[in-house]
Amino acid sequence: MLFKQQAWLRQKLLVLGILAVGSLLYLVARVGSLDRLQPICPIEGRFGARGQAEFPLRALQFKRGLLHEFRKGNISKDQVHLHDLVQQLPKAIIIGVRKGGTRALLEMLNLHPAVVKASQEIHFFDNDENYAKGIEWYRKKMPFSYPQQITIEKSPAYFITEEVPERIYKMNSSIKLLIIVREPTTRAISDYTQVLEGKERKNKTYYKFEKLAIDPNTCEVNTKYKAVRTSIYTKHLERWLKYFPIEQFHIVDGDRLITEPLPELQLVEKFLNLPPRISQYNLYFNATRGFYCLRFNIIFNKCLAGSKGRIHPEVDPSVITKLRKFFHPFNQKFYQITGRTLNWP
Ligand code: A3P
Repeated sequence: MLFKQQAWLRQKLLVLGILAVGSLLYLVARVGSLDRLQPICPIEGRFGARGQAEFPLRALQFKRGLLHEFRKGNISKDQVHLHDLVQQLPKAIIIGVRKGGTRALLEMLNLHPAVVKASQEIHFFDNDENYAKGIEWYRKKMPFSYPQQITIEKSPAYFITEEVPERIYKMNSSIKLLIIVREPTTRAISDYTQVLEGKERKNKTYYKFEKLAIDPNTCEVNTKYKAVRTSIYTKHLERWLKYFPIEQFHIVDGDRLITEPLPELQLVEKFLNLPPRISQYNLYFNATRGFYCLRFNIIFNKCLAGSKGRIHPEVDPSVITKLRKFFHPFNQKFYQITGRTLNWP
């Protein structure tokens, strides 16, 4: 009898224990999911006594909850406004380069407590129809943030679109511009891979990279091929320099962001005059993905979508050599203009 009672008690205690641990995990999970805009990293490191990004932690957590409620449709925009949350025009834009690692850069910068990302590519400055809707339309596309925070958006098409520099200049001539680049041939192949995947999804046939990148008549690099043209970084940058001084640009090494993200992010923090807040804690290498992923807290972490980090098709080595030789002088000019040497072949 006594033995039976003891077993019953043990069982009860076990159930209670499981319930307690479950509730605790649920609570931690709730806090972590309230607002992914606000990264969660060790508290001490985030809200120092000095530095510009000082937000009262309690208020911050409360407002995270508000944003969550707003997204769920439980409270109105007006109620959000009552709590100082605003939609601000971006103080910095990741203008490109397509396939350079623009999404990874945006997501990683969003780990900083003073940075709030616009989740979608807005395509305001490169799309005439959107641009015609006016700057208020653009502002309304921005996420809610505190006045002390900065909003960042990324639309990689900005870098290569003719009209964009002038349009951004008209909005804010002192805006900070981030360009993330990868070794140009790798970037071109990555660009091709993305288009190829789209074609395959639609059951369409597509040419091999070699056929597109090399003109079959001249056997020279085909500069009419968009993936090649986009990788001539210096040509595009020169157009931007007609409007903005080079000091307003920061070049991010996209190849290094893949292998060693933290130092690259620290350079960006410096460029944006943000106190250093992103730490190694926020970034961990995921061997299955083969990339660094983001850590929000002990429970929540996220890797980029599977569309980031595709396997590239094999490309004829002689075509790679030809392309690298072609890009070489443009790369030299790019290093010279930007003051950042990237040791590309
Ligand atoms: P690949 O798919 O060629 O590997 P973008 O966001 O500008 O489209 O860039 C996509 C590229 O970001 C990917 O190109 C990938 O290599 C790179 N990247 C950099 N850091 C990454 C990360 N942490 N996770 C996934 N992809 C990352």
